[in-house]
Amino acid sequence: MRAREGSGVRSEPPLPPAGGEGGLGGGGSSRPTGIDRFVADLDRYPESRFTVSQVLAFLRTHPVDVDSLRPYLCWDGRHYTRNLIHKTALYELLALCWEPGQSAAVHNHAGQLCWMAVPRGRLSVQNYRVREIDEATRHCELEPSERYEMNPTSPLAVDPGEPIHDVVNRPEYGERAISLHIYSKPFDRCLVYDLERGRYDERPLFYTTVAGRPL
Ligand SMILES: [Fe+2]
Repeated sequence: MRAREGSGVRSEPPLPPAGGEGGLGGGGSSRPTGIDRFVADLDRYPESRFTVSQVLAFLRTHPVDVDSLRPYLCWDGRHYTRNLIHKTALYELLALCWEPGQSAAVHNHAGQLCWMAVPRGRLSVQNYRVREIDEATRHCELEPSERYEMNPTSPLAVDPGEPIHDVVNRPEYGERAISLHIYSKPFDRCLVYDLERGRYDERPLFYTTVAGRPL
């Protein structure tokens, strides 16, 4: 079940430039891709291509032009923002905006696949391994496993076998970060884990903006 042993997210070296990836539509290129083209190319992927490795390969050949994301970006000093760019029955694409020091709590992805890219800045991703979990009492014990740093050259795929992690724009990075997230299929609730209390709960997820408009 685990797509790759020992790691909850994958970081692989970038492909050589241009053309060889064989993605549908021939959109593969190491040159920055406008978000509209990115969406148009991904929309041509059938469900059979929404595998961990194939969407990761898509991200590696479609580094997104940060300027093209401008309509979807917004910042909030209290919390990172979740901005919906595009949604189909098969996947949703979000841009998350992180001020330095902002973080996402330890969470899972409701059993869905997840891929991430960071067109601007850096983010730290800490994975957790489940030592003990009791669905009746919602008691859990997690332990840290791998940690990765994401940056504009290192898109990642969450390992379905170890899907729990947190995400931090570490204060020492000293700059804003923008991350793109592909979830397949879309989900609107996930589990959030409180390591200190040894408990977890289901939480609803909200968008800050949809197609560039505040809710
Ligand atoms: Fe996540």
